[in-house]
Amino acid sequence: MKKNILWLRERVLSVSIRIKVMGIALGIVFLFALTIIFQIRESFEKELREELKTSGIFIAKEMTSRSSGFILTPNQFALNLLIKNIFENNENVEYAFILSSSNEILVHSFENGFPKELLAVNRVSPGSKFRVEMLDTEEGIITDVAVPLFGGKLGTVRVGMNEKHLRNKLNAITLQILIVTAIVSLLSIGAASLLTIVLTRPITNLVSFVNALGKGDFEQRARIWADDEIGKLSNAFNDMIQKLKNFKTELEFKEEMTSQLLKKVINAQEEERKRIARELHDQTSQSLTSLMIGLKILKSAKTLDEVTKRSDDLRELTSKTLEEVHDLAIQLRPTVLDDIGLDIALQKYVADYSMKFNIKVDYHSIGFDSFRLPTEIEIVIYRVVQEALANILKHSEARNACLLLENRGNLLKVIVEDNGKGFDVRKVMSSEIDGKLGLFGMQERINLISGDITIESTPGNGTNIYITVPIDKKLSYEKDKNTFS
Ligand SMILES: Nc1ncnc2c1ncn2[C@@H]1O[C@H](COP(=O)(O)OP(=O)(O)OP(=O)(O)O)[C@@H](O)[C@H]1O
Ligand SMILES: [Mg+2]
Repeated sequence: MKKNILWLRERVLSVSIRIKVMGIALGIVFLFALTIIFQIRESFEKELREELKTSGIFIAKEMTSRSSGFILTPNQFALNLLIKNIFENNENVEYAFILSSSNEILVHSFENGFPKELLAVNRVSPGSKFRVEMLDTEEGIITDVAVPLFGGKLGTVRVGMNEKHLRNKLNAITLQILIVTAIVSLLSIGAASLLTIVLTRPITNLVSFVNALGKGDFEQRARIWADDEIGKLSNAFNDMIQKLKNFKTELEFKEEMTSQLLKKVINAQEEERKRIARELHDQTSQSLTSLMIGLKILKSAKTLDEVTKRSDDLRELTSKTLEEVHDLAIQLRPTVLDDIGLDIALQKYVADYSMKFNIKVDYHSIGFDSFRLPTEIEIVIYRVVQEALANILKHSEARNACLLLENRGNLLKVIVEDNGKGFDVRKVMSSEIDGKLGLFGMQERINLISGDITIESTPGNGTNIYITVPIDKKLSYEKDKNTFS
C-alpha cells in the first residue's frame, strides 16, 4: 500500500508543471460543480417533495369540500366530472379516487381499472385530518394523501401525487449546471494553459541557460521576464555567472603566472649554475693553480728568507681563495639564516643593502629575543623582503625605506615601506607582462605559508607592503637550544 502511494506520488510529481496546473484547475472546477449539483439536488428534492405533499393535501381537501354534496345527493355524473377536472388541471396528480365509509369505490380516475392494492395502504383514522404515505410504485415514488370526508362518516378522498414532472425539472437544472461546468472547464483549460505558458516559459529559458552554463558558456545571460520570483532567480544566476567568469579569468591568469614563474625559476637555476661554474673556473681554479705554482716555487727556494716570504704569499693567497669559496657558499644559500635567525640575518642584509645602494632603510624588530620562527617561514620572509628591497632599488627611486618585523607569538607582521614614486597596483597585478613576476612570486610564497599580503601603492605616494603570517607556536623553538617550545 505504502509502495503504491509512493509510486503514485512519484508519477504525479514527475508530470510537467503545465499538466499539474491544468489538473489542479480542472479538479477545482469539477469539485466545485459536483458539490453545487449535489447541494442543489438535495435541497431542491426536499423542497419539491414538501411542495408536492402540500399541494396533494390541498387538492384532496378541495375534493372533500366539493364532493360531499354529490355523495349525499348522490350524483355520480358530477363526481366523475370533478375527478376529471382535478386530473386535467393538475399535472402532478397521478390518480384520485373517493371511497365510501364502507370502503367501496365511489369514483376513480384509473382508465384501466382500479388497482385493488391501493385500498390496503394509507388508511386514515377517522379522527385525523389527513394522512400521507409514500408509495414505491412502477410509476415511481407516489405521495399518497388521504383526507376523511366528514370525519370519515362519508368516506375518504385519496389523491396520488407523482414526482415525475418535478424530477424532470430537477434533471433539467442539473443538465444546465453540467453545461455551465463544461463551459467553465474549457475556459479554465484555456486560462491554465495561458498561466502555465507565462509561468513555464521563463523556467524553460532558465533551464537552457543553465545547460549552456554547464557546457562552459560563460557569455550567456538569463533573460529577465519580470521582476517576480523567477526574475529575481534569473538575476541571481546572472550575478553568479559574472562571479564565475571573473573567477575563471583570475584562475587562468594565475595559472599563466605560475607557469611563467616556474620557467623563470628554472632559468634562474640554470643561470646560477653557469655563474658558479664560471666563478669556480675563473677565480677558484685560478687561485688554486697559483697556489700550486707557488708551492712548486717554494720547493725550489734556496734561502730561509725566501721560504718565509713565499709561504707568507701562499698564506695570503689561500686566505683569499677561502674567502671566495665562502662568498660563493653564502650567495648559494644565506647560511646566516640557519645560523643566526631571520631577525639578525635581515638586519645584516639591510645594513649591507643601505651601504651598497645608498638607500636609508630603518629596521625595527619586536618579539625575536627568545624564540626562532619555523624554518620555512624564515626562508619565505627573507626572500620576500629581498624581492621588496630589490623592487625599491629597481623601480621606486626612493631614498628612504622602512622594514618592520613584529613577532607576537602566534602572528608575524612584516611591513616594508618606501617613499618612492609608487605604482598602480591593480594595473600591474592584472597585466600579463612577461618577466614581471616578483610581486606574483611574493604572493605565491606568502600563500604557501598560509599568510596574507596586501600591496598598497599609488603613483607619487610610495609603496607599502603588509604581510601577516599565522605562527604555529609549537613549531617555534627557543634560541640557542634547538629544542621545540
Ligand atoms: N617599490 C616599488 N616602487 C615602484 N614601483 C614598483 C615597486 N615595486 C614594484 N613596482 C612596479 O611593479 C612592477 C612589477 O614588479 P615585479 O617585482 O613583479 O616585477 P619586476 O621587478 O619588474 O621584475 P622581476 O620579475 O625581476 O621582479 C614593476 O615593474 C614596477 O613597475
Ligand atoms: Mg621585482
